[in-house]
Amino acid sequence: MHVPRIVVVGSINTDMVVQVERMPAIGETVTAGRFAMPAGGKGANQAVAAARLGADVTLVARVGGDPFGANAIQNFENERIRTSFIRRDDSTHTGVAVIMVDARGQNVIAVAPGANAAVTCADVDRAADHIRRAHAVLLQLEIPMDVVVHTARLAAEARVPVIFDPAPAAPLPADLLKYVDYITPNETEAGRLTGVAVSDRATAETAAQRLLAAGARRVIVTLGAQGALVVERGRTTLVPSVAVTVQDTTAAGDAFNGGLAVALAAGLTLEAAVRRACVVGALAATRMGAQPSLPTAAEVETFLATLSPNAPV
Ligand code: RIB
Repeated sequence: MHVPRIVVVGSINTDMVVQVERMPAIGETVTAGRFAMPAGGKGANQAVAAARLGADVTLVARVGGDPFGANAIQNFENERIRTSFIRRDDSTHTGVAVIMVDARGQNVIAVAPGANAAVTCADVDRAADHIRRAHAVLLQLEIPMDVVVHTARLAAEARVPVIFDPAPAAPLPADLLKYVDYITPNETEAGRLTGVAVSDRATAETAAQRLLAAGARRVIVTLGAQGALVVERGRTTLVPSVAVTVQDTTAAGDAFNGGLAVALAAGLTLEAAVRRACVVGALAATRMGAQPSLPTAAEVETFLATLSPNAPV
């Protein structure tokens, strides 16, 4: 099998995580939390997810001129991710995310983007050859919107599939969706993008239909433990997830997107690729932290071997 070539254009963060029994209310202090500082950022997480699954990954991004940035680049090198298109921007800090995770594994996240907000279209153009030769390009929304649109257009012109995770949700420019092959909102993002309160299959389908009407080609709404709803014109499929014990859902969506890119690049059908992506996302939710939680290909295979032989993965 060929090695999937994946390009990720996106954010790099250092996550400051406090684990709490329950989320504090506004003005309240909760204590006795545990602290960790794992590597994060939606772009970086997707890049690491794809690399651990065996892909050849190029990450286009920026870090600040601080030790967090240097550590991030060292981590990517350890993961065998191409770092030559990650620029160090001494005028700002590396992105930081402050995260609280409660006893149910749910999180709230506040991001100070720093260098992520300084990524430019010229940064992307420097990696144009890699983008044109990629099997898939992964995009999210923690970098400037014009860079996302520019990358999607560049990839689409070269007929490279674009997987777009609209996270964190933001209003989308009218022309973006025509360059995107797969848009992968979670329930909250699907709701913000469409005005539909998404909580189950029916509401996810309504939201997805609105995204199709707005120009999306294929919508994959991730529904956590309920799986993922794949909606194309004239066809809707609910791909079930797998039962796991959730520790922390941070980066589960990133793991899903990285898994989807690798599975599609490896030639799986859309349904089988989404099924596999659900497994990658579910495994990421079983461990604390963003990048520390992302499974390797061997871990995914071991998990799959525990499932029913008839499961479509
Ligand atoms: O998707 C999870 C990520 O969102 C975290 O790693 C954090 O950095 C924020 O960007």
